[in-house]
Amino acid sequence: MILQADQLSKAFGSTQALDKLSLSIEAGSFFGLLGPNGAGKSTFMSIVSGFLTQDSGSLTLDNSKLDPNNIEQKKKIGLSPQHIALYKELSAETNLKLFGKLYGLRGKELHQQIEYALEVAQLTERRKSPVKEFSGGMKRRLNIAAALMHKPKILLCDEPTVGVDPQSRNAIFDTLLELKASGMTIVYSTHYMEEAERLCDQIAIIDAGKILRVGSLDTLLQELPRTNLIRARANTLDTQQAATLSTFGDVQQTGSSLQLQTAPDFKLSSFFKWTEEQNLEATHFQIAHPSLEDLFLHLTGKDLRE
Ligand SMILES: Nc1ncnc2c1ncn2[C@@H]1O[C@H](COP(=O)(O)OP(=O)(O)O)[C@@H](O)[C@H]1O
Ligand SMILES: [Mg+2]
Repeated sequence: MILQADQLSKAFGSTQALDKLSLSIEAGSFFGLLGPNGAGKSTFMSIVSGFLTQDSGSLTLDNSKLDPNNIEQKKKIGLSPQHIALYKELSAETNLKLFGKLYGLRGKELHQQIEYALEVAQLTERRKSPVKEFSGGMKRRLNIAAALMHKPKILLCDEPTVGVDPQSRNAIFDTLLELKASGMTIVYSTHYMEEAERLCDQIAIIDAGKILRVGSLDTLLQELPRTNLIRARANTLDTQQAATLSTFGDVQQTGSSLQLQTAPDFKLSSFFKWTEEQNLEATHFQIAHPSLEDLFLHLTGKDLRE
């Protein structure tokens, strides 16, 4: 485990932002922190990066206790904060130079890392432009690249796609997946379950400062009843067909719109074989799987995006 939190607590006045939060992050993994606004994601990342101090509990980095004053430990961690932390009046290049110097980079290494970070941010051509001229996506890409200047082992990426255009969002995903492929550990916070499902090896579901569940997507979803929902627009079924259809699960039909909540032993291939045999002309097939959104609802009784 590269990073472990043990019973981490942090309060702001009467708000318990983290409530005895414990988790373990494996080296080289893409670890997702999925939770709604106010869950404690940013507070956790701020404590790991030493910008906040916990009230109680401890963190372990690479098997030694994390000490906010230990520079060597600090160099292993990069934070790309939720709120863009860049100097608007300064160019992309100068911003990166400042971040590099902050981490003690000098000379050739500093220049190499600036080139690398500009490339990661896809801003080499715009290196001389002041940040204030950049789009939301460009700023976000630079905000991530700045966190990479000192070659951290762990990158904490706090909600990097909020307010970002789809093209930049895909560029950010590609960059993060490449970093993971190169061996970096990525800790990624989001309130978008699609992102957690798409990117993360391990997902921790966080709410009210507590980790509710941790696991791979498949493991997490096993907690939900194993059903699929099939929606289709279909021709009217005869009595015999309707009877057979109901052996596949619970059927609801409203006019030509049909909804099948599948039974646990449902086999999609047999279902399609049967529709073909019966010459059932179903158009607009849609199969809905249980999602992390359903799991969050199941665990907390509320929506992720409330
Ligand atoms: N500096 C602060 N002062 C007061 N309350 C804060 C501060 N930072 C966070 N909080 C509160 O702590 C809780 C967790 O916040 P945060 O860690 O930002 O959640 P998330 O990043 O998951 O949205 C929220 O209720 C938030 O309002
Ligand atoms: Mg946050």
